[in-house]
Amino acid sequence: MYLHQDFHKIGLGTAMLRYLLELAREENLHRIGLHVVADNKIAIRLYTKLGFKTEGVMRGSYFGADGKYHDEIVMGLTLALH
Ligand SMILES: CC(C)(COP(=O)(O)OP(=O)(O)OC[C@H]1O[C@@H](n2cnc3c(N)ncnc32)[C@H](O)[C@@H]1OP(=O)(O)O)[C@@H](O)C(=O)NCCC(=O)NCCS
Repeated sequence: MYLHQDFHKIGLGTAMLRYLLELAREENLHRIGLHVVADNKIAIRLYTKLGFKTEGVMRGSYFGADGKYHDEIVMGLTLALH
């Protein structure tokens, strides 16, 4: 999910992800998974708030624009138990 920087932290990410989860449930999807750079506190806060759980850490798996390697967190949300 990428929002223009002028529109961060005003609730749009939450609204978009809530809607995505609603669609996923309507489609009877089993699970949604994602990777997020460990430094990205806002995104991790958003995913955690909407029920995603941390499932692991991929150490040094993301090469950033800063020329350094960053950890990525693996997160997942199980929607339906089938
Ligand atoms: C990540 C992104 C989609 C989130 O969307 P958003 O509209 O900015 O997020 P929201 O405003 O809906 O929610 C942000 C939450 O982070 C919290 N937050 C803000 N600054 C924070 C910080 N420094 N540390 C921790 N949490 C923070 C807010 O309080 C809010 O939580 P709350 O609802 O409990 O108060 C958006 O910021 C974005 O596009 N970022 C750049 C691209 C990106 O990083 N995408 C994710 C790739 S995995």
